[in-house]
Amino acid sequence: MTGPMTNKDKPKKLPRHLAIIMDGNGRWAKRRFMPRIMGHRQGAKAVKEIVTAVRELNIPYLTLYAFSKENWSRPREEVEALMNLLYDYLQREVDELLGNKIRLRAIGELHRLPPKVRRLLFETMEKTAANYEMQLILALSYGSRSEIVEAARKIAQKCVSGELDPAQVDEELFASFLYTADIPDPDLIIRTSGEQRLSNFLLYQAAYSEFYMTETLWPDFDRNELMKALHDFSGRERRFGKTSEQILLRCTGNES
Ligand code: FPP
Repeated sequence: MTGPMTNKDKPKKLPRHLAIIMDGNGRWAKRRFMPRIMGHRQGAKAVKEIVTAVRELNIPYLTLYAFSKENWSRPREEVEALMNLLYDYLQREVDELLGNKIRLRAIGELHRLPPKVRRLLFETMEKTAANYEMQLILALSYGSRSEIVEAARKIAQKCVSGELDPAQVDEELFASFLYTADIPDPDLIIRTSGEQRLSNFLLYQAAYSEFYMTETLWPDFDRNELMKALHDFSGRERRFGKTSEQILLRCTGNES
């Protein structure tokens, strides 16, 4: 799709929180006999296009899985190249984020990022902190299991110190100890490149998320591909464990 979006193009139902596992940069490059980093570079362009499209659609939360904890074990040159791409992205896009009232946030073990990248990331998060139209959340050095374990550890410490009674620990309280404390659970998770895994991404938060997997490699994932995913989501019925009839009654306001 080119040009601004018309109401006709817009799916009837949109996710409030869209999360994306961006996969396939390496294969995109390999198919073109290029070094992997070229795939990541093209992937960063796709990030820009998708952020713009999501903002235009008024979807308030977008989380992108940009670098997993496990990604630290990739070859040093690739890790460095990814960190440089992230740095360049932040540097280049800050005005765009400010102009479009997008708040940048990050989840993950941010202390592990190189100081230069960390500094710019925190600076950008501060500069955009008052923006309210959309939140762009980058998952960086992110691993869901360690996020959950860390939450459990903090809760245990509070129980030992007497600040918390174990009887108070419920799902809501537990979620408030995750990186995503004030972020709604993702309604839709997209994974590109044909892989069908969650790869340690938002395991707790994805309990009721819809999944959309596409063969398209991340660097080729454009507005058109995004709209396909959103139209697919729009046609789904989310029951949250209830029956279709109950959902229908709730929609018509006839639920007892
Ligand atoms: C997965 O592809 C992708 C990544 C590990 C990194 C994602 C990074 C970007 C899209 C670019 C930079 C990000 C921002 C926010 C500017 P892969 O390398 O695992 O692909 P493969 O499975 O085909 O090898």
